Amino acid sequence: MIRLDRYLSEAGTGSRSEVKKLIAWGRVAVDGKVCRDPSAKISEDACVDVDGVREVRTEFRTVAMNKPAGYLSATEDKRLPTASDLLTGKWAKFGLKPAGRLDRDVTGLLILTNDGALIHGIISPGRHVPKVYSAELDAPLPPDAADRLAEGITLDDGLVCLPAELCYVPGELQAKITVHEGKFHQVKRMFAALGSRVTALRRLSVGPVELGGIAEGEFRELTEKELSALRQAAGCGG
Ligand code: URA
Repeated sequence: MIRLDRYLSEAGTGSRSEVKKLIAWGRVAVDGKVCRDPSAKISEDACVDVDGVREVRTEFRTVAMNKPAGYLSATEDKRLPTASDLLTGKWAKFGLKPAGRLDRDVTGLLILTNDGALIHGIISPGRHVPKVYSAELDAPLPPDAADRLAEGITLDDGLVCLPAELCYVPGELQAKITVHEGKFHQVKRMFAALGSRVTALRRLSVGPVELGGIAEGEFRELTEKELSALRQAAGCGG
């Protein structure tokens, strides 16, 4: 059983306070009968109509966004634009939160969801969900870079990172790195420990979910297949 107002807000009809008004105005019917009580407990399988149109609740929503530079990985900020500001239409109403943080200047894949267990699984270092980044560097990496990252590189503050995989052509100013945790400025600090400054950073994937062709500032809902694979990778069942 679920409260009627919660059912409707999880269906994307509106915020809790908006749907309470719709219910009070007599615009909501449960199994064909008008219900004016927002706290009424209804079956999760009930047929709920607003102005005669069926509202279908999906408990959790998860999207993949291509975060542009200049946006914070946050739900709100008084001064600066956030990833949540890019959620348009009904997507602004689901209470989606970023699963982990990308620095303000970092672009690429950001997963946003209202499934707290999934957020926890994606960011928890114990679950080892791999995150792949493409980095542009101000100087080539030393010859032993891949070995040092594979062993678990030590950062300037003494933090020893989990082993990471490097994909790099010697002499180039571009590298791909796969990390399995998400400490503060982690990738920038890993490259700094190797003597190179990151001049641009983009996240390409989180577990099985890839940035692909999502345009900057755009987002799309994960497919059932992606969601199931992501849940499995994050240790939340699949
Ligand atoms: N590593 C960083 O340095 N910054 C990010 O935003 C993500 C990973």
